[in-house]
Amino acid sequence: MQTRIYIKDLSQHIGEEVIIKGWIDVRRDQGKMIFFDFRDVTGKVQGVVLPKPKTPVAEGIPGSQSANLHDVGSKVRTEWVVAVKGKVNKRPDRAVQKDKQNGDIELEVLDIVVLNEAETPPFDVGSEGKEIGEDVRLKYRYLDLRRPRMQKNIINRHKTLQYIRDFYSKEGFFEVETPNMTKSTPEGSRDYIVPSRLDQGKFYALPQSPQQYKQLIMSGGFEKYFQIARCFRDEDSRGDRQPEFTQVDIEMSFVVQEDVMAVNEKLLIGLVQTLYPEKKIQQIPFPRLSYDEAMKKYGNDKPDIRTDKNDPNLLAFCWVIDFPFFEKAEKGGNGDTGGGTGGWTFTHNPFSAPKPEYMPDLLAKNNIGGIVAAQYDIVLNGYEIGGGGIRNHTPEGLKKVFEIMGYAPERIEKNFGHMLKALASGTPPHGGLAFGFDRLMMLLQNEPNIREVIPFAKNGEGKDLMMDSPSEVSLEQLRELGIRLAK
Ligand code: AMO
Repeated sequence: MQTRIYIKDLSQHIGEEVIIKGWIDVRRDQGKMIFFDFRDVTGKVQGVVLPKPKTPVAEGIPGSQSANLHDVGSKVRTEWVVAVKGKVNKRPDRAVQKDKQNGDIELEVLDIVVLNEAETPPFDVGSEGKEIGEDVRLKYRYLDLRRPRMQKNIINRHKTLQYIRDFYSKEGFFEVETPNMTKSTPEGSRDYIVPSRLDQGKFYALPQSPQQYKQLIMSGGFEKYFQIARCFRDEDSRGDRQPEFTQVDIEMSFVVQEDVMAVNEKLLIGLVQTLYPEKKIQQIPFPRLSYDEAMKKYGNDKPDIRTDKNDPNLLAFCWVIDFPFFEKAEKGGNGDTGGGTGGWTFTHNPFSAPKPEYMPDLLAKNNIGGIVAAQYDIVLNGYEIGGGGIRNHTPEGLKKVFEIMGYAPERIEKNFGHMLKALASGTPPHGGLAFGFDRLMMLLQNEPNIREVIPFAKNGEGKDLMMDSPSEVSLEQLRELGIRLAK
């Protein structure tokens, strides 16, 4: 049995007989001759079935039907899966297509074996796909993923993840996994909850981020952590929001704000220069704006500072710093999730520390609205692609935050006792950051929303149309969990 050759490598086999495996991308039947584009994950090549096959019997492919090659060539349709035996021929000069992959060769088809047939696809998988309704694309996502644009998005997502893993590993970070069945954390959104069978009436929560665990990893003495972490937030979906999304999450010990910003700025610059050399970073080092400056100058805290908004290859990163720690709580805001009664809630993250000069104010619960957090956001072309902070690493500091938010002492103990205990057991000063990885990929791939860079995205109503989820469960399942549905 001859080994399979990837389509991208065919030009190294001119004059040889090879076997390729893949899909029929295009088929043009011209009567005597049949032309094909064959496709595998590495690309496309043109093939031709000549009027009379030169080799009547093809060896090497089980189930070979070379005797009626022409019949098979007439029968196969786009998206059928085939093994093809063929001879790699150089094209005559006048037929060379310079800018096309394999534009200088052609596969003279000697045999085709059908590995699987395909129903007529509900849409064209060869186009950009922008003309097709998104719901139908999501319903048949496995087909939609064959689209060259989606293949590129997902493969570049992989390459970017590889770069990131490699970068942090070289910088001395350890990749540590944290649980997905955990406990509600106040991160500003509603939790997805998972009922317990063994402890009926109790629930796990899916993490809105690994915030507490990554801090506890610092308590655990690992000093530098990263994780490609799945996060879950029950909030309304938008172009840059999904109920389930991916963070590149990091935390570092014995650092100040500048250290965290520096290593992550280095990551972004290296990543763009290595994987996206066609793109230009507007300004290095990344400019910094205070929250007040951003609001005054741009009217929002994720300003699009591009000097040319028509240039798809311009990346304008900036840091936004010096956020107020607290804001007046309003119903439905962050404070609402914790049921605090202090009239204040955090603007970003309850685990943040104030900037050092504001620590006395926090400890004295003084000048609450004026306390500035050691908190930084990273913004790209008008999108918040990440954020982080230096944390309160003493129990006193963290406790004060919850007191200001009006949490009763029993509640602080019940919800955050483990954190306070960990902070009281020799936790080093620490801080970190998390990137919204899907948003970063969306911008790097010039896509209009994050669904285009997520292999199996949910639609605007939070539904997985392919799996038909969420869906009902059996009464038996509910009974086991001790759950009865309200009518
Ligand atoms: P934050 O809540 O700012 O911080 O989240 C970090 C980044 O995640 C992205 N993001 C989202 N992306 C897609 N869909 C969503 N629903 C969604 N929500 C957030 C954003 C955001 O900047 N634990 C802290 C990080 C830290 O302090 O280290 C956190 O989760 O790009």
